[in-house]
Amino acid sequence: DEEKLYKYNGVLYPLLMCPEVNLKALENFRAREDDIMLVAYPKCGFNWMVEVVRKIIEEATGMEMDRWIPPLIEFFGPDVLKVMEETPSPRFLGTHLHPDNLPASFEEKKTKMLVLFRNPKDTLVSFYHFSNNYPIIPSESWESFYSHFLSGDVPWGSYFEHALAWEKKMDDPNVMIVTYEELKQDLSEGVRQITTFFGFSLTEAQVQQISDGSTFSAMKENSINSHGAMGNILFRKGEVGDWRNHFTPEQSQQMDDAFNKHLAGTRLGAKLNY
Ligand code: PPS
Repeated sequence: DEEKLYKYNGVLYPLLMCPEVNLKALENFRAREDDIMLVAYPKCGFNWMVEVVRKIIEEATGMEMDRWIPPLIEFFGPDVLKVMEETPSPRFLGTHLHPDNLPASFEEKKTKMLVLFRNPKDTLVSFYHFSNNYPIIPSESWESFYSHFLSGDVPWGSYFEHALAWEKKMDDPNVMIVTYEELKQDLSEGVRQITTFFGFSLTEAQVQQISDGSTFSAMKENSINSHGAMGNILFRKGEVGDWRNHFTPEQSQQMDDAFNKHLAGTRLGAKLNY
């Protein structure tokens, strides 16, 4: 089972979806100023925002976006990367990569990046269930996954290292950080902010239509059409606070300590303290 993962630059990745050849090829990826980039640590709501951003682009531009799912650049490989070179703007791209492992051209071009985070306890719970349902990463017991998450020995690396690295970029004008919890609380407001950030403009009716169509229940209902067999795996519960059904009091305390060690006093930390 462990052979499903390997390390690249010291970080674990799933061998099948992110082989070394993909990550190497990515180093020369030519980002564009007008790429629309969605970044998320695993299980922070990436597929949710793929749907929202895709709808925003379609409504605002009248373009029909490709339906390939998900648009993770580390899954592409050299052949798809060649196709991407020819793809007209705006390209819609995504990644779970740590900012230091992104192709340098994103920084050079100041590509706009929507960055998603979610409180670490629910992220861990979601990741744990995913690891037990998605065959390309090892399945693990709760205890084992819990300690691997805390030590950062999970695919795409340490939650806290990702959070800290993005925290430092919060004031970059090309970076907007949105949390899962904010989106759950007011999706319409999230849609409005994301629309503005990417330089689009929508009517209030369009905003409502997008947010109504992107609730958890709407997306879960349509998931067989939209995501095939992955649908059942990706749209699990969609709630804030499911960690309470999984963590022991000791585990919760240990996670709070780790959280405070890395993120106490930071603005991103304040957003993620659930
Ligand atoms: S992945 O595999 O890393 O790309 O997973 P990701 O899509 O980031 O995260 C999956 C979790 O997001 C939840 N989800 C949603 N929540 C609220 N509203 C909507 N529309 C929505 N769509 C997906 C999904 O249920 C996973 O969380 P859990 O807690 O496991 O249910």
